[in-house]
Amino acid sequence: MNRPTEPATPFGTPDLLALAETVAREAGALVAEGRRAGVGVSTTKTSPVDVVTALDMASEELIRARLATARPQDGILGEEYGHEAGASGLTWVVDPIDGTVNFLYGLPAYAVSVAVVEGDPTVPGRWTPVAGVVHAPALGRTYLAGRGLGAWCLDERAGTRERLGGDRGVPLSSALVATGFGYRAERRAAQGAVVAALLPRIRDIRRAGAASLDLCAAGAGEVDVYYERGLNPWDLAAGALVVLEAGGVVTGLAGKPAGEAMTLAGPGPLVAELDEILVSLGADSDTRVS
Ligand code: IPD
Repeated sequence: MNRPTEPATPFGTPDLLALAETVAREAGALVAEGRRAGVGVSTTKTSPVDVVTALDMASEELIRARLATARPQDGILGEEYGHEAGASGLTWVVDPIDGTVNFLYGLPAYAVSVAVVEGDPTVPGRWTPVAGVVHAPALGRTYLAGRGLGAWCLDERAGTRERLGGDRGVPLSSALVATGFGYRAERRAAQGAVVAALLPRIRDIRRAGAASLDLCAAGAGEVDVYYERGLNPWDLAAGALVVLEAGGVVTGLAGKPAGEAMTLAGPGPLVAELDEILVSLGADSDTRVS
């Protein structure tokens, strides 16, 4: 995914970013309050460990209602309620709770991820993020990015607002690498084998449990680089813009577009080093490396 350079004025990016932030914060308050009241599994999706809570659904319902009122011509793609095409060329891409397993267990690394993209978000490489917000209420952190406007981390506890950017020039051998795992056993076995081969060649691995926050961490330099196989557009859209606007790159393996097959994010030189190893390990396959 290239960092778009054209000014985003045709779509009023500051307004879209403000709307994304308002909606993400409202949904974040809903889920944080609901978490305090107790939460349980409502249903499962791709495997018995791929859970959905009532608050995932309530959060997406709220976001859909707010966006339908504010931007009736836009499409929407959400994790729980799917895709509705729009007429404006813009689609909102929404993860109502990213990091649902953390949320279920009372761990703070979960977020509401709200992005608006130009193009078709269901096809890797055919869309470009315009504005994105990843709001993590239990961490007190909000990451924001607007196309051509930059990326920020707002730390509500520290009361700081930091503009993100800058490559510390860390080589892969010293890099803290974030990743995540899918929900199906076959894929996990292959992903585990890739991590095992990678570990001796890096500083360490982090698995925080929320892809949107992993991307923001890569944009903010809280980890050096991130990769994961199996991301959906709602995991990716907002966090990808944070990385791009912080001056990083977001790509698939060997120059392919970022998406389900593989996503790498971070400073360009580090992503290139990691890409070479992941290609050699066949990391975009569910067949275990030997
Ligand atoms: C998941 C999380 C997890 C990642 C998975 C995602 P969900 O999203 O982001 O960190 O490893 O690939 O599906 O299910 O919590 O919305």
